[in-house]
Amino acid sequence: MAVKGIHHLGVAVGDLDAAVEAYASLFGAHVEHRETVADQGVDACSLRVGESRVELLSPLGEDTPVGKFLAKRGPGMHHVAFEVDDVGFELDRLSAAGVQLIDERPRRGMFGLDVAFIHPDATGGVLAELVSDG
Ligand code: CO
Repeated sequence: MAVKGIHHLGVAVGDLDAAVEAYASLFGAHVEHRETVADQGVDACSLRVGESRVELLSPLGEDTPVGKFLAKRGPGMHHVAFEVDDVGFELDRLSAAGVQLIDERPRRGMFGLDVAFIHPDATGGVLAELVSDG
């Protein structure tokens, strides 16, 4: 897979505003983009931290994936997102190799980017996201 780099780290939080403030005061992070992604059941805020990016995720409800994650594990690291040229191409390749995927097809993520998730059982316990410009 031609990974260009880590696009962002995803962090699950209970209180989005408090987390944005904490990242600003602790790490000098600033808000790049904030969006409700109904499809994924989250209020999301993309922060720039130097040249890198942290995506804070607050659930829209308890029965959403991030809501369940928070209930089970509490706030903290949620996923690592890798930037690739073409999410659809990589999904086809991984699927053909028998890799356990959460998304069989790309869906629309923050910034209108193509995203898809790979099951943590396939990666040694870390939820992985693929991101491309579509
Ligand atoms: Co993400």
